[in-house]
Amino acid sequence: MNDPILDVTDVTVTYQDGGQTVTAVSDASLTINDGEYLGLVGESGSGKSTLAKTIIGALDDNGTIESGTIRYKGREIQDMGRKQLNREIRWKEISWIPQSSMNSLDPLKRISQQAIELAKVHTDFTKAETKERLSEAFEVVGLPPNRINDYPHEFSGGMNQRAIIALSIFLEPSLIIADEPTTALDVIMQDQIFRYLEELRDRGTTMMLITHDISLVFEFCDTISIMHAAQIAESGPVGELYTDPRHPYSILLQEAFPDFHETNKELSEISGYPPQLGPNPDFCSFAERCPWAGEECYDGQPELESVRDDGVYHTVACVRKDEIDRENRPTQLTGEPTDD
Ligand SMILES: Nc1ncnc2c1ncn2[C@@H]1O[C@H](COP(=O)(O)OP(=O)(O)OP(=O)(O)O)[C@@H](O)[C@H]1O
Ligand code: SF4
Ligand SMILES: [Mg+2]
Repeated sequence: MNDPILDVTDVTVTYQDGGQTVTAVSDASLTINDGEYLGLVGESGSGKSTLAKTIIGALDDNGTIESGTIRYKGREIQDMGRKQLNREIRWKEISWIPQSSMNSLDPLKRISQQAIELAKVHTDFTKAETKERLSEAFEVVGLPPNRINDYPHEFSGGMNQRAIIALSIFLEPSLIIADEPTTALDVIMQDQIFRYLEELRDRGTTMMLITHDISLVFEFCDTISIMHAAQIAESGPVGELYTDPRHPYSILLQEAFPDFHETNKELSEISGYPPQLGPNPDFCSFAERCPWAGEECYDGQPELESVRDDGVYHTVACVRKDEIDRENRPTQLTGEPTDD
């Protein structure tokens, strides 16, 4: 088995919001091994981008890492601070394709100038080498290489998104954190970007792909982590979560998305609403929406525990994980807690 390149352990992140403390990530743990592609999925507001920003040191100013450790290649980075992370880790080691690229490019500098400044800090490339690499990256993301000297405002929104992807890959980082990288792009361009991201595997790149689309993860990634209400509900190999998901939310999320193996599949909605984030509840945060919920689910928050005893990484935060069987559901999805 490959070594972990990124190890996130028990990370909790809060935001101060209008006098309230909001827990956006709660005791999250996940591991990405060298060379693996991990998909991080979950509903809107479940904390995916917050976790990504925490890893890369780009949390908003009102965000705080309350606890936990983040190890990159064995080195703890959670206390490094933005400046040190930018100097030592970001771009060359870990690059981040933010969910919205609109504010990530400097509007006053040509794209090539921004690339030259990055390369100067992180590599010994000459200006000519940098421009050549950037031109190649432009070609890959479907931008004309002769436009590397443009300013961001000369590009459309989708072109800006592709320019930030080009800047994120041209230094060939070890780990790419791609947060909904293609949402702003048309279908053909999405396909092209994913084909390229797939090719990066052969160069030994590791990836954390953040998306709300679980079927994309089943198609594209090796492992998956599923977030619900600030917590990791389940993590493991995609094949195993596809055939034998153990968290009810993983089962329902899978049923809500089209399946590339089964094109005629009927889709179902997950009933109820994601919980409002606030202080952590002292029961399972999925209980109000879970067909399997029972009394024991209201007795504290379930912790992430392994369901394998052979060393395979498959963790689940559900007190009933050993009984969960998607073919044997206690009730229809009524959205009401059940007492079975
Ligand atoms: N700067 C902020 N201040 C206060 N609350 C925030 C801030 N940023 C995010 N949040 C809240 O934290 C929670 C998690 O947000 P986050 O952006 O991490 O979710 P997400 O899973 O990436 O959602 P999406 O799929 O919509 O991108 C949400 O409730 C959000 O409203
Ligand atoms: S702990 Fe209970 S309510 Fe929560 S997901 Fe498991 S069965 Fe459902
Ligand atoms: Mg997000």
